[in-house]
Parts: sequence; structure tokens; C-alpha cells
Amino acid sequence: MKPIQVGLLGAGTVGSGTFKVLLRNQEEIKRRAGRGIEITMVADLDQARAREVAGEGVRVVADAREVIANPDIDIVIELIGGYGIAKQLVLEAIAAGKHVVTANKALLAVHGTEIFAAAHAKGVMVAFEAAVAGGIPIIKALREGLTANSIQWLAGIINGTTNFILSEMRDKGLDFATVLKEAQRLGYAEADPTFDIEGVDAGHKVTLMSAIAFGIPVQFDKAHIEGITKLAAQDIKYAEQLGYRIKLLGITKRTAQGVELRVHPSLVPSKRLLANVEGAMNAVVVHGDAVGTTLYYGKGAGSEPTASAVIADLVDITRLHTADAAHRVPHLAFHPDAMSDLKVLPMTEVVTSYYLRLRVADQAGVLAKVTGLLATAGISIDAVLQREADEVGGEGSTQTDLIILTHDAREGTVNDVLAELQALPTVLQPIVRIRKEELS
Ligand code: HSE
Repeated sequence: MKPIQVGLLGAGTVGSGTFKVLLRNQEEIKRRAGRGIEITMVADLDQARAREVAGEGVRVVADAREVIANPDIDIVIELIGGYGIAKQLVLEAIAAGKHVVTANKALLAVHGTEIFAAAHAKGVMVAFEAAVAGGIPIIKALREGLTANSIQWLAGIINGTTNFILSEMRDKGLDFATVLKEAQRLGYAEADPTFDIEGVDAGHKVTLMSAIAFGIPVQFDKAHIEGITKLAAQDIKYAEQLGYRIKLLGITKRTAQGVELRVHPSLVPSKRLLANVEGAMNAVVVHGDAVGTTLYYGKGAGSEPTASAVIADLVDITRLHTADAAHRVPHLAFHPDAMSDLKVLPMTEVVTSYYLRLRVADQAGVLAKVTGLLATAGISIDAVLQREADEVGGEGSTQTDLIILTHDAREGTVNDVLAELQALPTVLQPIVRIRKEELS
């Protein structure tokens, strides 16, 4: 049988890895797929770069639409990124009857409903293993491996840039801005790292996982997103003293009221495996009712790790090539006519526990007042740590840090009591609130 012909849009880092791995492992990939897989055409505005990546015998063009229009191309790989031209090209490829493989989490988290519906109507696949956690086969695990389970929750470190920054802040006691500069110097963080550090990239990824886990449409606009830009080195230190590490987690959870969908820095007990995922690595913990807790760990970015996921999708599509659309694995695990209307909860309805740091006047009655307001609101305290005033503000200081860990509470209730606490004259700086996930 003649090889499946693939067209690649965007010959950057992942495209180059895809060529290398396909070439290196072509015999084994062919034995697994049942047919050879060949990239025969590449589109990139930088044609010199594309020629270097593609090597001999591959047609290089500047216009992606030439790839889409080529009737010999069976599968289009979209590695352009973003919501702009990438969206048009993916929809055009679908309309032309091509299967699509993409690493574009932003596109699918925001426009997935439209794109999956178009693919379903046309009977083609849009495969996106590379869009979440790079080389970790988490989409396949959620959509197929765990298909027997009612998934209860999942939590992941799904952005390597921010995990690298947090690891460095903890190891070296440095502040955020200093480590970000270092991450940019080392090439981990982009020149414009906004999507990474503001939690948007992790938000895109957890939105996709949430849809697959719970059979709901992708709803990035309903996700609560906080990044790591406001994290202070001292909170990382205090958390450590209390037996926790701070990680940027993407969390989605099924509750009786709806689905929690959120990204924010979280205290995680140091003894949990997730707390020990360091540097640019990714990991996702999934809890299913039958299997219990499972952990997936690996490289979340990079040329060959991401290519590993892209090629897995190429093999899947090659295997499915003769199956009709109705018998393929559904894009979001659940059949389109069997999606749930379970609502995504507003952040005020989320229930979790909290780390609170209050810079207070070191006076009699302050601790009693603070704990009294928490008690009145029905918020139970798990632990309290008070630093020596001298340690916090230098010799003779009249201020100190009061750190409180709470048990589970409703976010809306916590917001109200934080407003009351903030108004106290003895609370001297904006209160720091970081959510805490026991993951047990
Ligand atoms: N920018 C992402 C990260 C990699 O830092 O993890 C691609 O998703």
C-alpha cells in the first residue's frame, strides 16, 4: 500500500523534530501503522528554513493553501499556532477532506466546538495529542485508557516555563522577576512569555482535558486563570516551612453543582509526587472512580518530545483511514450528541483550602481578631505560623507575618472575610491568598 502523504504547515522546532523522528524510526512506525507515513510537502514563509528542515525530495512552498489544495495529501499537520491564520487553515483543510494533526491548544480551547463540529460533519479527524503536556500521552489516556471511569478530578503541572521559574525561586530563594530574566536568557521562556506566566497556556490545556474528562464542550472563557507573576519568594519559603511546595496547577473537578475549571498557584504537600516535579517537566494526576489516582509525567515541550505526540496522532489516523467517521474515537471522548450540559462553576462556588499571609502589627489581640473573623465566617483553621517580628522586619520591627492554613471553604465566603480582614487597621499590607490542594 502506498504511504500516507502528509503536508506540514510550519517548519519550526516541532516540525523539525517530526521529520527527524519519522525518518529515524520509519521502519518501526510503518510496522505499527500498517502503512508508511511520509511528509511530502511543507509550507513555511521562511522557505530556506523549511528546506533545511525537510531535506531532499520534499516540496517546499510559501503558501499553506497549496498544501491544502494538493489532492495527494491525506493529513495536514498544523504547527503555526495562535487563533488567526491557523484557524482558517485548519477549517479549510477540514473542508478539503483532510485529517488534521495540531499542537495548537489555544486554537482548540477557544474555537474547538466549531472545529470539531466541522470535522465531524466532514468525517475527518482533528487529532491534538501534542496540544497538552507535549510528549505525555495524556489525551489518549483520558480519552481511551481511562474510558471505563467516571473521572472525578485531575490536576496538572502543564506549563514547563512556569514550573522552571517556581523551581528556581524555591531552590535559590530568588524573586520572580530575576528568575524570569534567567529563564529568557536560557531560552526556556519566550521573549513575550505572557501566556506562560499569566497561566493562559495552562488554561488552554486544562480546558481541553476538562472537556474530555467530563464530556462537556470546551469553555476556555469560563476558566478561572491566575498566573505566577505576583508570587513572592517569602510565600514559597513559608509554604516550605509548613510542608508544602507552590506549583502552578491546572485543576478541573466534577462536583454535585458543576465543574470546577481553574489555573492558579497552589500549595501542594511536599510528599506528593506532583510537588516533586521540578524544572521544565510536566505531570498530570487523574483520579477516576475505578482506577483511583494515576500519574503521567514527562517532557511537556521541546522538539522531539512534542514530535512524539504529533507522530502518534499520524499513526492513529493512518490506522483509522479506512474506518468511517461514526466508528472513530470521538474528538472529546464522548459522542457529540451525548455531551453533558454540566455547568462550569464560577470561581466563587469553588471549594478548596487556603494559605493566607497577613502582614500585621505585632500587637496584643491581633491574632484573636483575625481568627475570630474566620471563625464567624465558618472557616476552620488547619495551621498557624507566626514569624518573629525581628526576622520579618529587622531588629526592633513592630510588624510580623501571620500565616494561616485553612480547611476547605467556599471561595465566595473567603473573599468576603478577606475583605473584612483587609479593612482592619492592624493589617498593614495586601493579604496574600494562595489556594491549597491536598490531592489526596
Ligand atoms: N510554553 C509551553 C510551556 C510549552 O512552557 O510548557 C508548549 O506548550
